[in-house]
Amino acid sequence: MTASQIRNTFLEFMKQKGHVIIPSASLIPENDPTVLFTTAGMHPLVPYLSGQQHPMGKRLADVQKCVRTDDIEEVGDNRHLTFFEMLGNWSFGDYFKRESIAWSYELLTGKEWFSMDPHKLYVTVFEGDADAPLDQESIDIWQAQFEVHGIMADMGTRIFAYPKKKNWWPGPMTKGLCGPDTEIFYDTGKKHDIVFGEQCHPNCDCGRFVEIWNNVFMQFNREKEGGPLTELPSKNVDTGMGLERMAAILQNVPTVFDTSEFKIVLDAISELSGKKYGEFKDVDRSMRIIADHIRSATFIIGDTRGVVPSNIGQGYIVRRLVRRAIRLGRGLGMQGDFMNKLAQNIIGQYGEFYSELEIHQNHILHEIKKEAEKFAKTLSNGEKELQKIITKGEVTGSDAFLLFSSYGFPLELTQEILREHGKYIDEKIFAEEFKKHQELSRTASAGAFKGGLADDSIETTRLHTATHLLHTALKMVLGNHVEQKGSNITNERLRFDFSHPAKMTQNEIQKVQDIVNDVIQRNLLVHFDVMTTEEAKKSGALGYFEDKYASLGGKIKVYSVGDFSKEICGGPHVTRTGELGLFILQKEEAVSAGIRRIKAVLTSEK
Ligand code: ALA
Repeated sequence: MTASQIRNTFLEFMKQKGHVIIPSASLIPENDPTVLFTTAGMHPLVPYLSGQQHPMGKRLADVQKCVRTDDIEEVGDNRHLTFFEMLGNWSFGDYFKRESIAWSYELLTGKEWFSMDPHKLYVTVFEGDADAPLDQESIDIWQAQFEVHGIMADMGTRIFAYPKKKNWWPGPMTKGLCGPDTEIFYDTGKKHDIVFGEQCHPNCDCGRFVEIWNNVFMQFNREKEGGPLTELPSKNVDTGMGLERMAAILQNVPTVFDTSEFKIVLDAISELSGKKYGEFKDVDRSMRIIADHIRSATFIIGDTRGVVPSNIGQGYIVRRLVRRAIRLGRGLGMQGDFMNKLAQNIIGQYGEFYSELEIHQNHILHEIKKEAEKFAKTLSNGEKELQKIITKGEVTGSDAFLLFSSYGFPLELTQEILREHGKYIDEKIFAEEFKKHQELSRTASAGAFKGGLADDSIETTRLHTATHLLHTALKMVLGNHVEQKGSNITNERLRFDFSHPAKMTQNEIQKVQDIVNDVIQRNLLVHFDVMTTEEAKKSGALGYFEDKYASLGGKIKVYSVGDFSKEICGGPHVTRTGELGLFILQKEEAVSAGIRRIKAVLTSEK
């Protein structure tokens, strides 16, 4: 089965089980400062898992583009990827464990579906602790499934129970939505290696078992990190299946890089470099990293909310991906605009399912070319400088930062070159320097790339509602040309980027602030209506009409604040504006030509 057939089979199955198929959300999360990229299919659906109503109903399924950069150093081995596709299905207070498990089993083993041998499937469940009980219900349901094929699914032979570290999502004591999960593993038949322990089991690291699907039963909220659990008003299901891994299994190949999809890219790299894949370990490693990184970079730049290479936030990740691929590509002897050729290869392969890649083709190629040119300059200047420092003696974290800030020479490259000389720098010092100089310091240290749940605290929700008020107030004071260009909300402040050709005057700032505070004082009711994009447009709602739901002719949510504002939005919001407190517009500044940025806070003083 090709990746494309796997997507179609999954979506068709889910459709038959009553799910509405939604398109992949953007790779760049909106209003969520806790992560740089969408890291799981559930990520864009957090508001609906917390009880908000989704316009497309209670049963959804999709194929979601994901990027995880916490494993970026691991890419190059034969299983880690930065970009991957996650197949998922959701129940928002609709079906629960029984259907979820039975359907997973049916889809995986059904002759008309993935037709996997049930004898090769193993499952894991949560073993229980003081916080939450053993998931006996899942065990019973699994046993009934395996019984259909006459398989005795005993504990410790077919079903294995593990603590929170393995069978709780997202993390053992993480704040936010959570619950026990059950994971499905495929037995590759690989011989167990005793180095990893006496007994092999699904979570053994020897590589015999591959995790293919995770079904999370998300029925709790943990209000504080490490705090107690509270039951959610509705029981949800959140599942995630890695497409690339499924492709490797269904194509009966040992690694994701041996699948027909990656083979197309690796063949292109072979052709451009004149090197074969599968002959030398370090050549293979470079080729895998290049294949992974060009795929991620193409998807991130080509996203509907795409970002271009830069020195902060997501842009810094794209820069790293592109530059590392270029450096390794050169090492393999590739010349000229090989990155563009590879990007074209990715667009050709994925453009049919992800039309944004085709639509943004020119933009993607332009940005990659531009970055390659910049990097060529950076490389020769920075490497010369680094060589000078190396000859002098010890290289410090401050040296690395200086190379980064004055030459744009990335930390990872400094580290990679130093490693070749058996040298290391103190990353902490680099990070400290970086923090002093950059607003988004969290991209600098390894810990910064971890995934997590959206912060849906009450503070964030209040600021989200305040953002809607600000948006309308800006249009009232400055004019209708004001358009939202970006929004980023933490639980402490809101940040709003919008188009406007000039610096706001003190008078304009005051007016905007007064309007927002007046609406808060009036304690207006906040509510939403579900409508078609056409209806939303007619109603005068603000928002992106090229919204992803539009293409499906689907329905969207429009939030209204009394008769003051109307905006396409997923939520969540407060119920009455009186809950917001006092709105203070702290700062108005330029972001780039024609784009302004406002930072504002809410305080409890009235
Ligand atoms: N959210 C779950 C995961 O990413 C399904 O594994």
